[in-house]
Parts: sequence; structure tokens; C-alpha cells
Amino acid sequence: MRIIDDILNLARIETGRYEIDLEPVALDAVLLDALQVMAPRLREKSLVVENAVGDGAPKAMADERAMKQVVLHVLANALRFSPNAGTVRLMLDDGDPDILELGIADEGPGIDPSRISRLFTPFRKDERSAQASGGPGLGLPVAAKLMDLMGGSIRIDSAPDRGTRVNLRLARARSA
Ligand SMILES: Nc1ncnc2c1ncn2[C@@H]1O[C@H](COP(=O)(O)OP(=O)(O)OP(=O)(O)O)[C@@H](O)[C@H]1O
Ligand SMILES: [Mg+2]
Repeated sequence: MRIIDDILNLARIETGRYEIDLEPVALDAVLLDALQVMAPRLREKSLVVENAVGDGAPKAMADERAMKQVVLHVLANALRFSPNAGTVRLMLDDGDPDILELGIADEGPGIDPSRISRLFTPFRKDERSAQASGGPGLGLPVAAKLMDLMGGSIRIDSAPDRGTRVNLRLARARSA
């Protein structure tokens, strides 16, 4: 069960027992993997995916397993909060020579900026999100900790009725 995996992962991270091995990781492959895992849910809600991250995209310094988990958690949220037949957009900002920023955007209800920082604390979803459909509130805390372990960061850019864009920032791998 995923809740248990998330709790175990949080415990591993907190006690320094989640092993991170940084290496150049192809983000396009990580995305395709996650989309495959999520295919049934995408179909269920008739969602459209606009994936602007083609193969041959620059690589990021990351731990492949951790990055897959992060992308799965963020993508799961994008799907959960998307309206039926909504569009989920995947994009990669590679304008900086040292940094890559992967963006996952949805057309859901958005998040009030005042709520955003709280969402990174395990189980600390506020009253509003506790009422709304959602899970236990572990996805973003796990994602944020893993990004941190990889020397990266996660940022949420959202406003009510404007959808949500989650940005995952990592160091760019030096091309050999
Ligand atoms: N893409 C999004 N659009 C709107 N709200 C979001 C989005 N992503 C996260 N949230 C808000 O942040 C809360 C916390 O997200 P988080 O992924 O940590 O937990 P969850 O999805 O509710 O449960 P879990 O991930 O453990 O199954 C969500 O319940 C929701 O209120
Ligand atoms: Mg979640």
C-alpha cells in the first residue's frame, strides 16, 4: 500500500537511510515511465497529456529511483485534481546552463498561495484540503524531501482557478 511506502520512505529519509546516488538522469525517460504507470487513471478521466519533453532532452543530476518517486507523486496530484478531459502539461525549462526545471501543470482548482507552504508537512493538510477529495497528505512531503536530498527543490506555482504548476529544479548534468 502506498501510504505505508510513503511513511517508510519518510522515516528512511529522516534517519539518513534513504540512499541517494546522483548520476545523469534522462528526465524524458522518467516521465514516460510515470505516464505508463498512470495510464489507467489518465484514461479513466479522459485526460490529455501535452508532453513537451522530447527524447534527447538534457539530463539532470538526480537519483533515478528518487526522481521517479517524485514525478509519480506530483503527477498523481495533477491527475487527481484535474477536471475530466483536462490537459496536463509537461515541460522542461533548460534556459539556464546549470539548472533544469521540470514543470508539471494541470487545469485543476489551483491552490491558494497562503496554503502552499503547509502542504509540505506530513499529514498537515489544512481544513480545506481535508474536506476535499485527497489522500493522507504524504505525496508532497515525500517529494520535497527527496528533491532536497538530490540537491534540488520543488516549487508550487498556483492560484485558485488558475490551475497548478509544480516545478522540480535540479542541477543540469555536464555533458561529457
Ligand atoms: N495539483 C494540485 N492541484 C490542487 N491541489 C493540490 C495539487 N497538488 C496538491 N494539492 C493540495 O495539496 C494537498 C497535499 O498534497 P499531497 O500530495 O501531499 O497529499 P494528497 O495528494 O492529499 O495525499 P497523498 O499524496 O498522500 O495520496 C492535497 O490534498 C491538495 O489539497
Ligand atoms: Mg498526492
